[in-house]
Amino acid sequence: MYQISIEDSDEVFDCAADRNVLKAMEKLGRSGIPIGCRGGGCGVCRVQVLGKGQYHTGKMSREQVPADDEKKGICLACKLIPESNLRLKVLGKWQKHFSDNRVSENQKLGT
Ligand code: FES
Repeated sequence: MYQISIEDSDEVFDCAADRNVLKAMEKLGRSGIPIGCRGGGCGVCRVQVLGKGQYHTGKMSREQVPADDEKKGICLACKLIPESNLRLKVLGKWQKHFSDNRVSENQKLGT
């Protein structure tokens, strides 16, 4: 089990080593986040892995994640499998849902 933290909202949640990050996030019942194809094609769940987190990804649309972006740690949460704790920045359509919904210290998810 790894800890995933969202830089934009200070939220933290657990993700099993064989689960994708989107599934773990959905399990929390996070309200208001747009969910797309869940298949690496639509780009709704674009995130960037910050720092030195270890992870691997399933097949992602090159249109949504060009090779240059992938080198910067950008990937799709529905295809992102953690291999260590990860710190993520949300991109694309998720951005406003997380930045508008900052949670206070004692409301952090997963604690
Ligand atoms: S939900 Fe469509 S790419 Fe992740």
